[in-house]
Amino acid sequence: MSNLTTDHFSALLNKYASNKHPFNLQLLSARQGDRVLSLYQQSSDYFIQASGQIATYQDVDELFESLPPTKKPNDKFVIGIADKSDIIVGVVDLIRDYPRLQCWCLGFMLIAPQLRNQHYGSALYHDLESMVYRSGGKELRLVVHDKNHNALRFWQHLGFSIKDTGFEMYGDQKAKVSILEKTILPNIPKLHISS
Ligand SMILES: CC(C)(COP(=O)(O)OP(=O)(O)OC[C@H]1O[C@@H](n2cnc3c(N)ncnc32)[C@H](O)[C@@H]1OP(=O)(O)O)[C@@H](O)C(=O)NCCC(=O)NCCS
Repeated sequence: MSNLTTDHFSALLNKYASNKHPFNLQLLSARQGDRVLSLYQQSSDYFIQASGQIATYQDVDELFESLPPTKKPNDKFVIGIADKSDIIVGVVDLIRDYPRLQCWCLGFMLIAPQLRNQHYGSALYHDLESMVYRSGGKELRLVVHDKNHNALRFWQHLGFSIKDTGFEMYGDQKAKVSILEKTILPNIPKLHISS
């Protein structure tokens, strides 16, 4: 991670580390795959809709390992949301400067079913957007499975718009997808960096 990204990522972690916050954020590595698998298994609604199957370790491996050929492992950040018992209740991954410079790709975001629709996802998204901007990103991009109407509404609500369509593999199923992008505007709340 560049120093700039490290500072802003640390500021984000510190914000969530306060006692008042119900969750903390953790940068995850493949060693924490079992913790992510538990979340994936609770979230079978999403995986069955996307690929017709419940999640397996292969889906977890993909979260940690899938990377466009032009990117290096240190361009990818897998972030876990952990509750007070240190159980992972959400994940999101970001790829820096992909598919072009200053455009960051939000690969996948998942909140545990019992915590959805309580604004945790949108609050986390706003904090990530702020971190990306402060790390030099000017746009965010993501891909949504066309059957995932809820996610499409969620992202559009957050200011993303459809720029293109295409096809992607979900498990062994080829699915139509929408590619959404958002330009990040500078008037975003400050994260407090201690220096
Ligand atoms: C998509 C997801 C990350 C959203 O996180 P969340 O914490 O549930 O979302 P929030 O509570 O912050 O919702 C923000 C807004 O979107 C709306 N929204 C969220 N999920 C919705 C749903 N399933 N149906 C309709 N509206 C929804 C909320 O009502 C809220 O609108 P409001 O601000 O007008 O009240 C979460 O629902 C999830 O993990 N879904 C399964 C995995 C998935 O589809 N990921 C996206 C892949 S691209």
